[in-house]
Formats: sequence, C-alpha cells, structure tokens
Amino acid sequence: MPKLPDSIVPAPLRKPAKPGANGHGKGQAPADLKTSPPERETHVERLTGQAKEAPVDVLAWVDQRTGASGFLTGMLYRKVPKGTNWFYTLGSATLFAFIVQAVTGVFLAMFYTPSATQAYSSIAHINNDVPLGQFVHGMHKWGASVMVILIFLHMGRTFFFGAYKYPRELNWVIGVVLLILTMTMAFTGYLLPFDQRSYWASIVGININGTGPIVGPYLSDFLRAGPELGATTLARFYSIHMLLVPGALIALIGAHMYLVVKLGTTAPPWVHAEKPKIATPVAQLDAGVESDGSGNGNGASSS
Ligand code: HEM
Repeated sequence: MPKLPDSIVPAPLRKPAKPGANGHGKGQAPADLKTSPPERETHVERLTGQAKEAPVDVLAWVDQRTGASGFLTGMLYRKVPKGTNWFYTLGSATLFAFIVQAVTGVFLAMFYTPSATQAYSSIAHINNDVPLGQFVHGMHKWGASVMVILIFLHMGRTFFFGAYKYPRELNWVIGVVLLILTMTMAFTGYLLPFDQRSYWASIVGININGTGPIVGPYLSDFLRAGPELGATTLARFYSIHMLLVPGALIALIGAHMYLVVKLGTTAPPWVHAEKPKIATPVAQLDAGVESDGSGNGNGASSS
C-alpha cells in the first residue's frame, strides 16, 4: 500500500521519526537545552492544533472501524492498461447520470402526488410555482434520455473492446440486467406526469410488452394492474419507479463496480502485450554458439 503523507495521518497513528532523521544523531540530545529551551505551546496554539486535527481524527476513527481506506486506495490507485482512452469514461458518465437522476428524483418526490386525479396538477405546480422546480424537473426528464444514450454507448464500448470475455462475463451479465432496469425506469417514469402523451404512450408500451412470447400477456396484465390503464396502473408504475428498480439498480451498480475494481479494465484490442525478454539466439552467439534457427543451440560453429 502506498505510504500516506504525514499531514493526513492523525498524530497518534503517525510513525515516530527515525533516530537521526530530524537532524541529530542517535541518542544525542536535540540541542543545548540550557541555551535554547524548547518553546512552550500556548493554550490557544494547542486548541488550534487539536481543531486542525479534528477532521482527520474523525476520518481515522471511521477508517479504523470500517477499513474503508483499503477499499478506497484499491479503487483510486488502481492501474489502468496502456491505451486507455476517452471511451473508458462512458461507464463513469453513466454512473454520473444515474446519480443526477437519483438526486433530482428525490426533490421531485417531495412535491409529486401519485394519484390519477392530482399527478398532472402536482407536476404543473412543480413547474410553475416551486422555486427551481422547472429546472429540476427538466434535469430529471432530459437526464433520463442522457442515461439511456450513455448506457448504450458504454455497452457498445465494452462489446467492441471485447471486455465481455473471460474473466468479465459476469460483469457483462450484470450490465445486461442494469440495461433492462434502466429501460424499466425510463418506461415507468414516462407515465408519472399522467398527461395525454404519457397515458397513450404507456398503453402502446404495455401492449408491446404483451406481444412477447409466453410471458408477454402476463407481463402486460401485471403492468396494467387492471382491465384498463388507470389509477391502479399509476400506483404500480410509481412503486416500481420509486422503490423496486432504484434499489436493484444501486445494489447491481455496487456489484458492477466491485468487479471493475477487482478485475481491472480490458486493454483496447489494438494494444498487445510486450513479448517477454528471454534468451535469444543472438544472446547465444556471445557465448560462441551460433544458432541454426531451430532454437536448440545445435548450429554449426562459425570457426
Ligand atoms: C447503470 C449502468 C452502468 C453503469 C453505472 C456502469 C458503470 C461502469 C464503469 C464505471 C465501468 C468502468 C469504466 C469503463 O469501462 O467505462 C464499467 C465497466 C464495465 N461495464 Fe458497465 N456500467 C453500466 C452498465 C453496463 C452495461 C449495460 C453493460 C453491458 C451489457 C456493462 C458492461 C461492463 C463491462 C463488461 C465492464 C468492464 C469493462 C472493461 O473491463 O474494460 N455495463 N461499467
């Protein structure tokens, strides 16, 4: 593990300086104590020092009990392969889009009413009356499309760079589930404003689900939550959008990130590993033996 700088290690955990490291020899007094006695620290200086150490002390307290620094060091200091480029930022961009959706979604939920009679007016209230409401709603609405675009680009990157192959198959499978969940979020979120467009678009979406083989009709019945799209459908979509899928997304993104840190990322397909430096026929020549190209050192001698 790389050595942490002394300034961020709390005083009680710091290693004492080696004898001689601070300018005087082993066993030798630092200076003539009679002519230059050490300066006394005032009460205020001591308190200021303690206050400066406080945040680091808190971090060290948490770290001792969780071992978080080991995980963070592994994640932040991990090596990336040669040839890593901007395409490798698409996963982190998708993660950022997800975080934006989660944060803006929390604020929208404070004002949204999931009722067939009030949903539309609560969205109108967010857009027209709530400070920054239209901005936050806009971020959430556009952010949904941004996340869908980014997740497809990220999937394309991992596919074309062959990152789905051994030993990352499981991360690919987790990724496929993340894709399905992200699409589910986009689909269920679309109904929530409960305006004409979201109402009719959801009917179309539910019917498309119904055309799937074997499970299709069950799936569309489950989504509609009744004979017609209505209040029960909205309640179902709301719970899927607010509780079920976000929980699963957070857990699976955690597993996805764990595997990325554990396995590292794949080098681009055009970057090849350097050939190992082993004894070559040229090296054998130095010892007076010429190679016949067979590699077994049986070549005829030049002398
Ligand atoms: C919520 C959605 C997702 C998030 C937040 C996410 C995040 C990330 C991040 C940050 C990385 C490491 C950096 C990078 O390679 O870009 C990564 C790697 C990876 N992701 Fe995703 N990802 C998501 C969805 C997906 C999907 C849909 C797939 C494929 C179906 C996928 C497959 C992979 C694979 C195979 C790797 C390893 C890449 C390598 O070894 O080079 N991910 N993901």
